[in-house]
Amino acid sequence: MEKQIARLFEPVEAGGILFRNRLMRSATWLAGCTEVSGEVTKLLLSRYAELAAGGLGGVISGYANVSSDGRAQVRQMNIDTDERIPDVQKLAGAVQPLGARLILQIAYGGAVSNPAAVRLGSIKGPSAMEKDPVFGNRVEVLTESDIERIIRDFASAARRAKEGGADGVQLHGAHGYLLMQFLSAVFNRRTDRWGGDFDSRSSILLAVQEEVKSAVGPDFPVWWKLSVSEERDGGYTAEDGSRLAERLVAAGAHGIEVSGGARYVGVERTNSRLGTRAGIDEGYFAAHAAMVKARVRKRAAVALVGGLKSPHTIARFLEDGVADLFSLCRPLIAESDLVNRWAEGDLRPAECISCNACFKTVSDGLIHCPVMKQLHEGTWEPLPEC
Ligand SMILES: Cc1cc2nc3c(=O)[nH]c(=O)nc-3n(C[C@H](O)[C@H](O)[C@H](O)COP(=O)(O)O)c2cc1C
Ligand code: SF4
Repeated sequence: MEKQIARLFEPVEAGGILFRNRLMRSATWLAGCTEVSGEVTKLLLSRYAELAAGGLGGVISGYANVSSDGRAQVRQMNIDTDERIPDVQKLAGAVQPLGARLILQIAYGGAVSNPAAVRLGSIKGPSAMEKDPVFGNRVEVLTESDIERIIRDFASAARRAKEGGADGVQLHGAHGYLLMQFLSAVFNRRTDRWGGDFDSRSSILLAVQEEVKSAVGPDFPVWWKLSVSEERDGGYTAEDGSRLAERLVAAGAHGIEVSGGARYVGVERTNSRLGTRAGIDEGYFAAHAAMVKARVRKRAAVALVGGLKSPHTIARFLEDGVADLFSLCRPLIAESDLVNRWAEGDLRPAECISCNACFKTVSDGLIHCPVMKQLHEGTWEPLPEC
């Protein structure tokens, strides 16, 4: 097993990027930006540097909003104007000198946006709704010209990521945000070219990718985070989602990070599941990742995210050909130096207990782990303001 674990820490070229190892921080909104302009703060930059110093191969940013009306969360990063390009430079400057790669995740919130987030304009989604199933927002329908503008906004945001020095861009097609809303029959009841069967509901993702690729050129790494299955009875399945992944790769995607579900499907099947245990129910989307990997083979990198806890399980997934790269989110909120700990031979699983209490720390500055803080009372060295 030691040999297999050692493979995780070897350099690898995947999805158009050379990484120092196969472990990545999955996109994580840490509420570390200013409320109105969505500018990155020094506090957030110090957390990014801390993550890179912790030994990760890649750091995927928290979702950066592409449009003035697309903000999904409070203190979310914006990448909606050229004024935000220096923010990407700062993030790149925090992680790249420490050996990690930076991928900027870009997103449009849509129907399930937090109404407390400052945005211009109303909350819009694929179809009008009296109440969205997460926040109870009244949702207005996106017009054809809104959709065309949002597609262009994704492309401009990707260009800004490239100009700011990111190593790649990741398009957010997961967790119930706008592009997944188009995939879901819960949100998308359109009868025009953007609605209909699953393939027609997927057409916006292909249109966004095409516009993004024409803005950044064929070689700049363009990745997706996809909820490969909706995880809802009667919803779209991993068969549908893996076929979509294959279509995106055929059209030039360099990487697919496999996630699933969304908050609106309920806690048991959501993307950030509760109480997963090392060696028991880790990597809850592994079967979906294996389906995507079997379809795209070596044509694109496949990353797995969701409940990964132990180097032994991750090494087994690598050995079994489930994925090329492995992403973690909550374990790195709890222990930003987890990868170095494993690389140095302390192979105990991540200390994170998947309780999701970190979501509740949003009002205390940067999102952090209250459980670790309690565990290490007296020795805990919080970042300023945490
Ligand atoms: C505080 C927090 C913020 C998150 N922010 C994002 C985000 O910005 N973009 C995204 O795609 N996923 C986001 N996620 C989901 C994670 O990236 C990940 O898919 C999920 O938590 C499962 O991985 P884990 O078990 O390693 O935490 C977030 C999760 C948490 C807990
Ligand atoms: S609060 Fe801490 S232990 Fe709980 S999920 Fe978040 S990072 Fe993990």
